[in-house]
Amino acid sequence: MSQTDNVTYGLEKIMPEAEDFLPLLGTDYVELYVGNAKQSAHFYKTAFGFQSVAYAGLETGVKDRTSYVLQQDKIRLVLTTPMEKDGPINRHINEHGDGVKVVALWVPDATKAWEETTSRGAKSFMEPIKEEDGHGHVVRSGIHTYGETIHIFVERENYNGPFLPGYKKWESHYNPSEVGLRYIDHMVGNVGWGEMNKWVDFYAKVMGFAQLVSFDDKDISTEYTALMSKVMSNGNGRIKFPINEPAEGRKKSQIEEYIDFYNGAGVQHIAVATNNIIETVTALRDRGVEFLYVPEAYYETVLDRVGEIDEDLAPLKELGILIDRDDEGYLLQIFTKPVVDRPTMFFEIIQRKGAKSFGKGNFKALFEAIEREQELRGTL
Ligand code: FE2
Repeated sequence: MSQTDNVTYGLEKIMPEAEDFLPLLGTDYVELYVGNAKQSAHFYKTAFGFQSVAYAGLETGVKDRTSYVLQQDKIRLVLTTPMEKDGPINRHINEHGDGVKVVALWVPDATKAWEETTSRGAKSFMEPIKEEDGHGHVVRSGIHTYGETIHIFVERENYNGPFLPGYKKWESHYNPSEVGLRYIDHMVGNVGWGEMNKWVDFYAKVMGFAQLVSFDDKDISTEYTALMSKVMSNGNGRIKFPINEPAEGRKKSQIEEYIDFYNGAGVQHIAVATNNIIETVTALRDRGVEFLYVPEAYYETVLDRVGEIDEDLAPLKELGILIDRDDEGYLLQIFTKPVVDRPTMFFEIIQRKGAKSFGKGNFKALFEAIEREQELRGTL
């Protein structure tokens, strides 16, 4: 983008369009199906600074799976692995590799959430069910979204246990410090060729979301930015789901590469917010998290593009942090390499300084960086 590109939305502008039949309080948890939950948990603690919260498995009477719950500020991850040789979790891992199965949303009423969404065309994954233990009760329900991903609605007003009924507190003597990750800013879904608008409509009609109209939607299919993207947001703006589909470009789209290796649509990246991206990324890098390489030339022109910023450029360049600006401010962001062996899921670390967009101006720089990686894998 050039310095004259403008963002044309603010959350307040989309509020009247977003309907309120599905009030969402926030992201409740993100559950990944993984091949080895014990080792994945160690990775998320050691590398990303997540804290041990809860556990379910043979010791708690669960026979078919083992789950570890980890948390950092408002971000809650659940890592689940199968304990039996067949079954849906094994099949999911065989098909997709480690990846996000559940994007759980915190709701005031999980029964109403299920009724409102299924009556508008959502395919049910789980009818409302009340689960209880000595800490109280929760109600959960679920619907399908893109690919094999699901949304679980969690009503937990009457529950004060460590996570959900069936989980016990996970005490560990190994507690690496947090790195300043605070909450999920947005979660991006990759869908197949020509499917973006179908899922944009799904979030609009079934969940009452509205599209954030911004420059992010325009000029999206240059030779480098071989993708199309629209951002869907719920009424209060706490939940933002950009939806990507591949586009024809000079080289193979990274979205297409994802779809090939994930064998379908799925969660591409989880963007997590920090208040100090330099400290957070320094800590993550020291702990072994790998980030995409940003060409040095990026920093030669970046300030011409984004104008004045509070931070020194030197540490941003040293760490490979990207900068973008819109009408309301600027943002700092960086992308990890995929955190699994298939080139599928990765994380974004983002610090917003007023900006409400998603870093469109960095797409070209990001794609150049990603294409270097694709070249190494021979998948361009
Ligand atoms: Fe993002």
